[in-house]
Amino acid sequence: MARSRPASRWTLLFSLVVLLGCMVIPGWTVKHENFKTCAQSGFCRRNRDFADNASAKGEAWSSPYELDPATVHFKDGHLTGVLIKTTANEKVLLPLTVSFLESGAARVVVDEEKRLKGDIELRHDSKANKKRYDEAEKWVIVGGLEVSKSATLNAQAETGFTQVLYGPGDKFQAVIRHAPFGVDFQRDGQTHVQLNHQGLLNLEHWRPKVDRPEGEEAGEDESTWWEETFGGNTDSKPRGPESVGLDITFPGYDHVFGIPEHADSLSLKETRGGSGNHKEPYRMYNSDVFEYELNSPMTLYGAIPFMQAHRKSSTVGVFWLNAAETWVDIVKSTTSPNPLSLGASSKTNTQTHWFSEAGRIDLFVFLGPSPKEISKTYGELTGYTQLPQHFAIGYHQCRWNYVTDEDVKEVDAKFDKYQIPYDVIWLDLEYTDDRKYFTWEPLTFPNPTGMQEKLDESERKLVVLIDPHIKKEEGYFVQEELNKKNFAVRNKDGDVYEGWCWPGASNWVDCFNPAVISWWNSLHKYDRFKGSLSNLFIWNDMNEPSVFNGPETTMPKDNMHYGDWEHRDIHNVNGITLVNATYQALLERKKGEVRRPFILTRSYYAGAQRMAAMWTGDNQATWGHLAASLPMVLNNGISGFPFAGADVGGFFHNPDKDLLTRWYQAGIWYPFFRAHAHIDTRRREPYLISEPHRTIISQAIRLRYQLLPAWYTAFHEASVNGIPIVRPQYYVYPDDEEGFAIDDQLYLGATGLLAKPVVAENANTADIYISDDEKYYDYFDFTVYQGAGKRHTVPAPQEKVPLLIQGGHIIPRKDRPRRSSGLMRWDPYTLVVTLDKNGEADGSLYVDDGETFNYERGGYIHRRFHFRESVLSSEDLGAKGPKTAEYLKTMDGVTVERVVIVDPPKEWREKSSVTVVEDGAKTSSAAPLEYYKQQGKKASYAVVKKPNVGIGKTWRIEF
Ligand code: NOJ
Repeated sequence: MARSRPASRWTLLFSLVVLLGCMVIPGWTVKHENFKTCAQSGFCRRNRDFADNASAKGEAWSSPYELDPATVHFKDGHLTGVLIKTTANEKVLLPLTVSFLESGAARVVVDEEKRLKGDIELRHDSKANKKRYDEAEKWVIVGGLEVSKSATLNAQAETGFTQVLYGPGDKFQAVIRHAPFGVDFQRDGQTHVQLNHQGLLNLEHWRPKVDRPEGEEAGEDESTWWEETFGGNTDSKPRGPESVGLDITFPGYDHVFGIPEHADSLSLKETRGGSGNHKEPYRMYNSDVFEYELNSPMTLYGAIPFMQAHRKSSTVGVFWLNAAETWVDIVKSTTSPNPLSLGASSKTNTQTHWFSEAGRIDLFVFLGPSPKEISKTYGELTGYTQLPQHFAIGYHQCRWNYVTDEDVKEVDAKFDKYQIPYDVIWLDLEYTDDRKYFTWEPLTFPNPTGMQEKLDESERKLVVLIDPHIKKEEGYFVQEELNKKNFAVRNKDGDVYEGWCWPGASNWVDCFNPAVISWWNSLHKYDRFKGSLSNLFIWNDMNEPSVFNGPETTMPKDNMHYGDWEHRDIHNVNGITLVNATYQALLERKKGEVRRPFILTRSYYAGAQRMAAMWTGDNQATWGHLAASLPMVLNNGISGFPFAGADVGGFFHNPDKDLLTRWYQAGIWYPFFRAHAHIDTRRREPYLISEPHRTIISQAIRLRYQLLPAWYTAFHEASVNGIPIVRPQYYVYPDDEEGFAIDDQLYLGATGLLAKPVVAENANTADIYISDDEKYYDYFDFTVYQGAGKRHTVPAPQEKVPLLIQGGHIIPRKDRPRRSSGLMRWDPYTLVVTLDKNGEADGSLYVDDGETFNYERGGYIHRRFHFRESVLSSEDLGAKGPKTAEYLKTMDGVTVERVVIVDPPKEWREKSSVTVVEDGAKTSSAAPLEYYKQQGKKASYAVVKKPNVGIGKTWRIEF
């Protein structure tokens, strides 16, 4: 008793400390005060007020925009005309173009005549461009703009409308209402996308600032028109208010997906409050959001203003091509078409409201009807995912920071000692000499080439960080050249902009300037970036850009870029201009050494997928962040940028062993698979973790490596038709409404592999939703799960990754563990076959040298595997080119060493061999077959050993 009293006092004290600790750990939540809410952002508030006013007026509201019928022309797939905005004092002319594209997409552009003519005055002696920013497409659009030859004006059914038939088989129609202006996009006679249906079109036209005598009130609330102050920084707004806004309604759709990057569910939530909804619109203003929060519409590092609306059997989409700060409100309303008709089912309409601070309205509309068609058409415009170098799809080991070149070599050796494969080790900030990029810290990295040579022995790579802020220091060659060449971003007064970032006082390289590209290129040459070898690649971080002392941790909006564009105009594409420069630089670091670049970028916009991988920035070592990473990665995939991942283990704080283990088991399903950690965290390389966790993590990484052939094939598919590498439920089963909101399980490419990572503490089962009535087999022991439209409980003890294979697939793998993916290049393949209800299966394999662009000239193998009528065959999907023969020769000895058939016909019990026939061979040979009986719920399987058919050849195995 005597000891218990002090003990309880201690407990009390301890609890108090913990409590206080909880209250003062600032790092665990985002600093809300650093970022604007909608109410704190002038144009956001104005556009929301505009919407509120319209909805308050209800039927009495009429949008003040009309299309002047006398101006309408239709020629060669383009409809042009002039919108007239009627205000109290004037009629504002807004040129409109609607282009009907061969791909089936339609593009709607609205500009402002006065701005196009330069007929405006700028305030504060600003030198800013007078036009509305119209160059976003320079960075974003790479194709798909051919106009439709068959689009035609449809006979005018009623006056007051212009109608255009377009799209495949003329199935699409744009019904353009003149007054008030609006467009209904129809497919097969049904409306799927409506513009200005709610009447929220709002283009804030240019007007001069009227200085009123004191006491005289303006007619409208002008408080945010001419200047705006936030966090001590005043934005001078030389062009005054200039936002654009539009409502886009999806009638009959109740799920919308896309508009990354947000830490939120895949199916986007409503944003005007109410239970389970957000109160704020989804914001897209690329920002360094330190310790971001979950379930939030807050902006993050990247933005892709591309949205898909989905309902049973139909997907449509829109892409809002605007590089300025953008917000999107989402409201769903339920309507019953006719309350008196019994049994009439109510339907949900999703109303979205988009507004950007500056620029034009430039909108693409896609009418699907499937998610795959949307991906394809959107990808044609913004480009498909770059086919990465093969190493890039292996495991990446990063931390801030490996402290010396010896440290790097030691980590490298430890991975080998513990037989854990990895491909890339990363150097964060501290490898540089005092945060000066393109230099090495002389004391800690005295021998960078020795380090890279060591890595190269096992075909491993090094990635180093290069940020866009250039340290302001006399004598630093990059800084001196930057200034001499006039390549830095300027402030509103035309002086070189100076801000604060990792190196302290810095300037920012302006990659909008085409001349910067060749300079940036030169900096990456071996003789300029001394000590770098050909196995070094680049990480572009902080490119939102992050500016520690800037408004909302970025640049002032009135900063100036090449072309006299204000930072306001281009903010969201800023990040990809750096990536573009780096991409050009890495293409050919030395004459003749042409290779696919590898770049990781934190900031992004539509189009980034052509050049880089992304990750979700500074997450935290919590179960919540682990769970959030899945919808975030899936969302990026359906938004055209599938080479995505999250920091495995969590960037901030120290994960416990269980969390770290589960994170690896989840991370192997990120297309970009990298562990990373903050400088203040404890070391956590997988070999440092005690048993049994070390083995479990190693096995997870090995599973990734085993499946690399399937991954690379999925990357290839994304690179030619835009289909995500990992796919959410709705995407794979677009007709199954039960699955639309599921965002915690994923499909790897078209392999039939369905993974459901465990993301909850202490969970030892996983409920996997199965949509169809095929059999699904546990990947490891072939336990059968079957039953459509329900969840199946799969055991998931700590050592287990919940993973099923759907019946009907042929999955290529490589089963021999090696130190790196490069060392697996010549290893033989295993094919895993699961039969569908008809006893058939399909699969494919894509493989090339994993490094050069020779695949563009036929240097690749692309096979389709079939299993039909007891014959497994390999058929060529490739087209021949000048590099085909050479590549096939290098792959000559690479064979299939094993075929595993899961759940084969019972008669195979009696079989002991199969017949193997290779293309061109006059004779056939026999390969042994072993049959393993069914055990309880575990399906039987058969193994063909050493059929040794060439992976690049046409062959048959007859069972
Ligand atoms: C911010 C990045 O998000 C993080 O991954 C990196 O470690 C730090 N910058 C330091 O470079």
